[in-house]
Amino acid sequence: MRLDVVTIFPEYLDPLRHALLGKAIEQGRLSVGVHDLRGWATDVHKSVDDSPFGGGPGMVMKPEVWGPALDDVAAGTAAATELESSLPHLARPTHDDVEGVEATPYEGRDVREGEDPSLPLLIVPTPAGKPFAQPDARAWSREEHIVFACGRYEGIDQRVVDDAAHRYRVREVSIGDYVLIGGEVAVLVIAEAVVRLIPGVLGNKRSHEEDSFSDGLLEGPSYTKPREWRGLEVPEVLTSGNHALVDRWHRDQALKRTLERRPELLEGVALDKKDRAYLKELGFEG
Ligand code: ADE
Repeated sequence: MRLDVVTIFPEYLDPLRHALLGKAIEQGRLSVGVHDLRGWATDVHKSVDDSPFGGGPGMVMKPEVWGPALDDVAAGTAAATELESSLPHLARPTHDDVEGVEATPYEGRDVREGEDPSLPLLIVPTPAGKPFAQPDARAWSREEHIVFACGRYEGIDQRVVDDAAHRYRVREVSIGDYVLIGGEVAVLVIAEAVVRLIPGVLGNKRSHEEDSFSDGLLEGPSYTKPREWRGLEVPEVLTSGNHALVDRWHRDQALKRTLERRPELLEGVALDKKDRAYLKELGFEG
């Protein structure tokens, strides 16, 4: 996968060289180019923003700067800083590499009606966007080329986003109902959620099948050794060796946690008879 990020703060993207993404770069499964938007500014002050039409507070990022930047990135002619992995020595084979488990990609790309599937995906983080969620991460993990446009201040002139649809499949997305000072941190969040799902990066697809959200539920609690710590015991069922009981316990814990913390998620979950019986015990009558 190729990621390109256009920003006025290139150093903000440095975390993409570390940990799991650094390993993916080292393995050759990922390459990341960071582009300084000011490279496309044309005046002596290298200005990238201007006051909004119609008045109001803040500044809007200029179309004459963003337009050529996105054209050049789409054409592959933009100057970039290529991120190098920070941890070449840590790029060891994963458990599934060792076990020879085949890495299978997620099915289903994010291509809307009328869109050319061969165009790169342009992600524009904005608090006014559609909420980013795990199904987006799964679909985007199938992409060959994703470009991120980081807006600052009051955002980017809307015509940039509208015009970019000629060269990209465009998605304006929010990572939550709060306002950040720019899109850079949202790019870190989205890139991490997507790259960990690329086959082979975090082992096999099976490695994420028990993640929160993979079946629509939050994941329940986890435990490791020792069995007793500071007077607290690991739930007995987990040490019983009875796999059916252990699976049922995990499912019940996921149901309980989801009911307590995110009850609205239960509406989208396929519940069987046992699930319903357990939820009823907890007082849920959905
Ligand atoms: N830029 C500023 N706030 C944001 C948010 N919540 N999500 C995505 N991009 C943003």
